[in-house]
Amino acid sequence: MTILVTGGAGFIGSNFVLDWLRASDEPVVTLDALTYAGNLENLASLDGDARHSFVKGDICDGALVAKLLAEHRPRALVHFAAESHVDRSISGPGAFMRTNIEGTYTLLEAARAYWSELDGAAKAAFRFHHVSTDEVYGSLGADDAPFDETKTYEPNSPYSASKAASDHLVRAWHHTYGLPVLTTNCSNNYGPLHFPEKLIPLMIVNALAGKPLPIYGDGQNVRDWLYVTDHASAIRAVLAGGQVGEVYNIGGWNEMTNLDIVHTVCALLDELRPDPAGSYKRLITYVKDRPGHDRRYAIDARKIERELGWRPAETFATGIRKTVQWYLANPDWVSRVQSGAYRDWVAQQYSA
Ligand code: NAD
Ligand code: DAU
Repeated sequence: MTILVTGGAGFIGSNFVLDWLRASDEPVVTLDALTYAGNLENLASLDGDARHSFVKGDICDGALVAKLLAEHRPRALVHFAAESHVDRSISGPGAFMRTNIEGTYTLLEAARAYWSELDGAAKAAFRFHHVSTDEVYGSLGADDAPFDETKTYEPNSPYSASKAASDHLVRAWHHTYGLPVLTTNCSNNYGPLHFPEKLIPLMIVNALAGKPLPIYGDGQNVRDWLYVTDHASAIRAVLAGGQVGEVYNIGGWNEMTNLDIVHTVCALLDELRPDPAGSYKRLITYVKDRPGHDRRYAIDARKIERELGWRPAETFATGIRKTVQWYLANPDWVSRVQSGAYRDWVAQQYSA
């Protein structure tokens, strides 16, 4: 048995692949275009591991996806590949429409052709697992109930609109063609290997460099944070026991304002790497708000707990400590990402 993972060189995808191969010997084929967000160093510990193979390629390339499905005969396709950063979607939405919508459509069509030709047990067992986000549900008011799986879609950014479109395609391919799909909508992840354009890793690396810690607007926007390996374990649980065609929301029951997040990061750095110049909180700087900035996200994760027995293993206190410790222990990863050196291998390998 084998699984095909798209976007496995990115933040969550690489944590998922590493976690998968820690938990089982079932081989993984990773398909990733290695955009700026893809970093093969994330998977370096798998070099020479016969259970893992890596293919550089685009999910919009239907012929390539069909070839990989025919060659590797996976029993599941787990789809992480996406453009994922809201700020980039505001300044340049085109790539989000292409990868998130056209790419998902291409995968669905290739998976449908492959799955239709499977017989008996293999056909019944195949799953297309679509990894999506809580942002498709829109923004909550302070007193609103957390998003459950019946919440209407109200995406507000080009990113969330493109993910919402992909969710609808996945739903339609199940409803119309019977493709055995699973969809998960997860809250904000954090942890090792997180690209330092997103809030938590940006705050850690900027603080360590003595740079400003930019807080958008009033810092009171709320996100619901989940440690990345808990997302990976939730996907494993859904893949193993989720009902075909169903949606499962994944979250850590951990709502925090952005300002509280940054204060927590600063306090941990003050403890673990004190700066003679004073607390890292001195670097906090309020900047112009993100256009269309969603005020609050929160996930009601009772369905996945009730039906599949999944709960997060980490609390925010344990997860954020591990995260800060990881960044302190991996300055080379950070500096290669910041200098762009992490892309050299790609240029060297594929220049011909
Ligand atoms: P990321 O930006 O870190 O990684 C995305 C990966 O996809 C990269 O390795 C990139 O090279 C690859 N990719 C991009 N375009 C591609 C294409 N056309 N073909 C093949 N590969 C391509 O993203 P992430 O934060 O790891 O998110 C992974 C998935 O999880 C996304 O679908 C995202 O919407 C979803 N999600 C993310 C979060 C979060 O907090 N980061 C929360 C919920 C859901
Ligand atoms: O909710 C899930 C989503 O979480 C995922 O679908 C996205 O892929 C992922 O990027 C993330 O989106 P956010 O926009 O919530 O994450 P980001 O880290 O960009 O921002 C988190 C919050 O922090 C948000 O309210 C904006 C704010 N922020 C962010 C940055 C980068 C700042 O105040 N300053 C910053 O410099």
